[in-house]
Formats: sequence, structure tokens, C-alpha cells
Amino acid sequence: MKRNIIITGGAGFIGSHVVRLFVNKYSEYHIVNVDKLTYAGNLANLKDIVDKPNYTFVKADICDFDIILDIFKKYQIDGVIHLAAESHVDRSIKDPFTFAKTNVMGTLSILQAAKIYWESLPEKYEGKRFYHISTDEVYGALKLTKPLGDPNCNKCGGGPFGEEFFTEETRYSPHSPYSAAKAGSDHFVRAFHDTYGMPTIVTNCSNNYGPYQFPEKLIPLFINNICHRKPLPIYGKGENVRDWLYVVDHAQAIDLIFHKGKVAETYNIGGFNEWKNIDIIKVLIKTVDRILGRPEDADMDLITFVTDRAGHDMRYAIDSTKLKNELGWEPSLQFEEGIEKTVRWYLDNQAWMDNIISGEYEKYYESMYSNR
Ligand code: NAD
Ligand code: DAU
Repeated sequence: MKRNIIITGGAGFIGSHVVRLFVNKYSEYHIVNVDKLTYAGNLANLKDIVDKPNYTFVKADICDFDIILDIFKKYQIDGVIHLAAESHVDRSIKDPFTFAKTNVMGTLSILQAAKIYWESLPEKYEGKRFYHISTDEVYGALKLTKPLGDPNCNKCGGGPFGEEFFTEETRYSPHSPYSAAKAGSDHFVRAFHDTYGMPTIVTNCSNNYGPYQFPEKLIPLFINNICHRKPLPIYGKGENVRDWLYVVDHAQAIDLIFHKGKVAETYNIGGFNEWKNIDIIKVLIKTVDRILGRPEDADMDLITFVTDRAGHDMRYAIDSTKLKNELGWEPSLQFEEGIEKTVRWYLDNQAWMDNIISGEYEKYYESMYSNR
């Protein structure tokens, strides 16, 4: 079946994996990647698929409603996978306006363009789909009730660091300007279903890691710093817990849910893979040092405890049982394998990293860390 799908934010980290998967897997689809190319957007993430006949890139701001509506009309769009967003919590603490603008108003702009275009067609919403990619951070923070970690935890009876998980029923309770803006966007998406009958789906995923992640986020930043023997700034005591998922597994879940998910549903996506920041950093140091042939633990002294992130959420842990039971999705990679692949990718793609870590980014990084 032929489809014309907009993927917003396709030049970013997760978006580039979703674009690659769809362009390669569905030659009968036309994939239109709409991205503003902010500091986080990078067309080098897609250089292996740029010449494919079923792929088009359009540089546009999702907040620019008239341009977005024109894109819907020009390409006769029948599906949307919406990833474009400001995505970094630390930036949202410094500049909340940009997050409200892109994440809330930008999402509203895409929704309204889809509504106007789809309602103008004879078949209206039939065969259409608006899939919004959200985050587990909208649920707030879970308590660290097992601070020492429980290696014998039963996945469904509780995680290694606490009894509770985020489920699809968990009340929204965002704490950062980033997660507040994502929560606002999720509410707008659901409102468009409930008010206008738009066939929407929302998913909330845990922390992703893997190739092409912008090096302001923990894993690529630390791999690069270990490689160059630069300090590793750990916020607070490093006790915060995150639930990590390999990005290709997220992209595969998105593919499955876009095609098989039920309209108006929410699905949580995660791999039952909780780690304390300090422990994940030790794994990164060991892995980089081993691959580079350095003595074991040679770089442990790079660990530097710095002032905590304001409002730092203690623990995220996703229960993705619904997605497993209803659609049969499970992550394909074990964490050890995913981290090994990820570290090797960054070490093998130093030119990709060097292109980013220069100019404006360097100034940003200095300003973020000089006062810590
Ligand atoms: P990213 O920051 O790497 O990429 C965001 C992309 O959106 C960039 O290409 C950027 O240029 C584009 N963009 C930003 N503002 C835009 C605008 N106004 N108009 C058009 N394009 C714009 O983000 P990511 O980590 O790939 O996250 C993608 C989505 O997934 C986001 O919605 C994020 O909230 C969500 N998410 C991320 C994670 C994670 O761990 N990274 C986990 C769960 C959900
Ligand atoms: O949970 C999903 C979310 O995961 C996504 O919605 C966000 O877009 C994505 O950025 C990510 O948010 P986090 O804030 O969890 O990711 P980050 O990589 O910024 O930080 C991970 C943890 O590491 C967090 O507890 C803060 C800590 N950290 C981070 C950085 C960059 C440090 O201790 N030092 C650092 O330098």
C-alpha cells in the first residue's frame, strides 16, 4: 500500500533511526523528513539514505503553520510520526520559552495542519494516523526505595531500585520545563482525538542510547570525554536511576505501533533496564578503556561529582507490559551488547563527533559546565 508519511525531527537522534528504518523497509512509502535543523539536527545522520527515491528532506520549522499545511497538501500526507522537539532537560532549565514554543505550539501547529488537510478530503480521517512520540518524563519521578539495588527483583513485581513502575495509567506529574512542555503536547494530541476524531496514538519511551545521539546527553558525552581523558561531570551523587533502551529497538517499536497500534491508545516503551548513573558511567569507562587497550579502570579518576541538576528526577522505570501483551514487542538487544555497539560506534565515528564538538557547541558546553 502506498503511503505518504511526514516524520518530524528526522535529522535528530531517534528521528534519524526511524527515517532510516522506514525508507529502507517500505520502498512503497514516501517519507518526508521535516526538520528545522536546530543545533540538534544533523543531516550527516542520514547520509546513507539521502539519495533513496522514496525520501525527501524539507527544512522547516514545525511552528510555521502555513508552511506545514503546504507540506501536507503538496505531498498528500496520510500519516505523521512526530518526533521534532527540544529534548534536553538542562537546556530547558535555562530557556523554558523555546521548549514551550517548539514542543507545545509546534505540536499544535502540526495537529491543526493535519486536521485542516484531512478534513478537506472526501474520506476525511479514514486511513490516516497521527503518531506522537513522547517521553516517560511526563510521569514525573519514582522513589528510590531500594537504594542498594536488588539483583533478584522480579521484573513485574518491582524493579531493582523500587517497587513502582510508570504504567499507561500513571498520573502526569512533570517536573522540568522540558517534561512540562512534552506533557502539554501529549494533552493536545489526545484532545484532537477526543474533539475532532483524529486517529492519534501516543507513546512514552524511556531513555534511549545508541549511535547519532547529540553529545550533550549522558552516554555520548561521557564516551567522548573518557576517550579524550576529560572530566566526567556527574550530577549530585550519581544515584539517579534511568531505564535505558537501545535506539533501534525504539525505532522498531515505533514501526510496529504506527502500523498495528490501536487509535487513541497510549503505549509505554522500555526495556526493564534500570541503571544508577554512577554504575553506568563505570561500565562506560571499563568498555572504552578495554577497547582502546588502556589498563583496566585507568580512567576512573575522571569521575567528578558536580552540582546537581535543578529538580533532578530520581528514578524513571517503564512498565512496557501492555506493548508486549498486545503487540508482541520486546527489545532485541541485551544492554551489554547495546553498550558495546554504542561505544564502538562513537570511537569509530570520531569525525562525526568532531564536526559537532566545535564552534557554537563548544561555547554552550563551556557555559553549562563552567559554573558547576
Ligand atoms: P534530538 O534533540 O536529538 O532531535 C530533535 C530533532 O528535532 C532535531 O533534528 C531538531 O533539528 C528537530 N527540531 C527541533 N525543533 C524543531 C522545530 N521547531 N521544527 C522542526 N524540527 C525541529 O531529540 P531525540 O532525542 O531524537 O528525541 C526525539 C523525540 O523523542 C523527542 O520528541 C523527545 O521528546 C522524544 N524522546 C526522546 C528520548 C531520548 O532518550 N532521547 C526518550 C523518549 C522520548
Ligand atoms: O527518559 C527519557 C528522556 O531521557 C528523554 O525524554 C529526554 O529527551 C532525554 O534527554 C533523556 O533525559 P535525561 O535527562 O534522563 O537524559 P540525560 O542524558 O540528560 O541525563 C541522564 C542522566 O544523567 C540524568 O540523571 C542526568 C545525568 N547526567 C547527565 C549529564 C548530561 C549527569 O550526571 N551528568 C551529565 O553531564
